[in-house]
Amino acid sequence: MFITFEGIDGCGKSTQAKLLEERLRSTQEKPVVFVRDPGNTGISEAIRAILLDKAHHSLTSRTELLLFSAARAQLVDTVIRPALEQGSIVIADRFTDSTIAYQAFGRGLSLADIHYANTVATGGIVPTLTFFLDVPLRQAKERCSAKNADRMESAGDAFFERVIEGYRHLTNVEAQRIKLLDAMLSVEILHESIWEQSSVLIDHTT
Ligand code: TYD
Repeated sequence: MFITFEGIDGCGKSTQAKLLEERLRSTQEKPVVFVRDPGNTGISEAIRAILLDKAHHSLTSRTELLLFSAARAQLVDTVIRPALEQGSIVIADRFTDSTIAYQAFGRGLSLADIHYANTVATGGIVPTLTFFLDVPLRQAKERCSAKNADRMESAGDAFFERVIEGYRHLTNVEAQRIKLLDAMLSVEILHESIWEQSSVLIDHTT
């Protein structure tokens, strides 16, 4: 069972991912593994630091794609795949849908290239269930305003509008897997909805 959380920066997905992790840990006998993409392994965290460092303003879109893919390949090979093979529930804060939304819709790289990079990076692993927390850009920016923007977060409004459009498009074409949630709802209401939808699937697969 592999559950991922998606959305633009400031949508609240990390809060919801953590709440689901905590509740699963206290109710499930199966081990629960939490990851953030890019991140978790030493190599992936080092690549993440390159990607988010504002000093790297000359980083090109194709380099960006390959770095996100490299970080993900290491995370999949050393953490996600072994955990899934052992029967763990894996929760990821971002995964391949981020690459489609940010690098295809946001940066303008071709969908064919993104799909190929995603396939190489994951070795074919696809999330069982994905939650897309949809929030208008203005609200997301208000939630983020307190912290220092990293390289990706400094991309500008037009970029993020395209990223949101990308996520909405994905939700339409993969409606079975990707569940759109109104991220303007309260943390508690969102969590209950996520909990219900996850529990149904988990009960089904055990
Ligand atoms: P995230 O961990 O959500 O950042 P934060 O902890 O600052 O909220 O994600 C890091 C950034 O990388 C985020 O701006 C989205 C971006 N990203 C991509 O552009 N492509 C990808 O494939 C992934 C996984 C993330």
